[in-house]
Amino acid sequence: MKIIVTKNYEEMSAQAGKLLAEIIKSKPDCVLGLATGGTPVGVYDYLTDLFERGELSFARTSSVNLDEYYPISSSNSQSYRYFMNKKLFDRVDIDKANTFAPNGSAEDVLAECKKYDELIDRMGIDVQLLGIGRNGHIGFNEPEDELHRGTHLTALTPDTISANARFFASVSEVPTHAITMGIGSVFKAKKIILLASGKSKADAIRQVITGGITTSCPASLLCLHPDVTVICDEDAYSLV
Ligand code: PGA
Repeated sequence: MKIIVTKNYEEMSAQAGKLLAEIIKSKPDCVLGLATGGTPVGVYDYLTDLFERGELSFARTSSVNLDEYYPISSSNSQSYRYFMNKKLFDRVDIDKANTFAPNGSAEDVLAECKKYDELIDRMGIDVQLLGIGRNGHIGFNEPEDELHRGTHLTALTPDTISANARFFASVSEVPTHAITMGIGSVFKAKKIILLASGKSKADAIRQVITGGITTSCPASLLCLHPDVTVICDEDAYSLV
């Protein structure tokens, strides 16, 4: 596991943005595994900036997102599909037909999960961007005795619901479930970049870097993947 500690959020975003841009430039038809939440917004701004300056094109690039609330329609402004459109896809030259996220309004969730895992296998993710929950979750793989291999429907923990409440008018509006890639789906990515910023992530980062491998901190399993780069700011690294 490679660890890069940056001064602040802006530097974390720039470091991750540079890494992703290098990958896109060296393989223009690469498949990006993307994440939502507050953490990757700076990376998407950085990439958009490169695009606007004519230094980067996403014309041949595809993407697969980690997760989506359930149930939610893709036009709902709280959906992760909507988030990706606003934060990245509408701002660059990516063909939206080549961008994928779990369908939050699928009637048959099991079939949707199976279809999503088949898509991941077919496309092959070159690099997966990840945030980390305060409780060590990645995607919506929450701390549990057993973690899931593939894409699945999961209930959000009270901690995740309270962490995500800042994006909603009130905590009661936060969806209670989500479809998420499983740990096995995430591990299929050739390369993984884990981002963390701020003191609220310090304990989770401490567990990932110095703790054992445990399902009570799902991100700790990343130590077993052959190509993981953690990019975190000094606050997130402060308990290591
Ligand atoms: P955040 O969420 O980027 O909004 O902090 C990260 C996560 O929950 O994975």
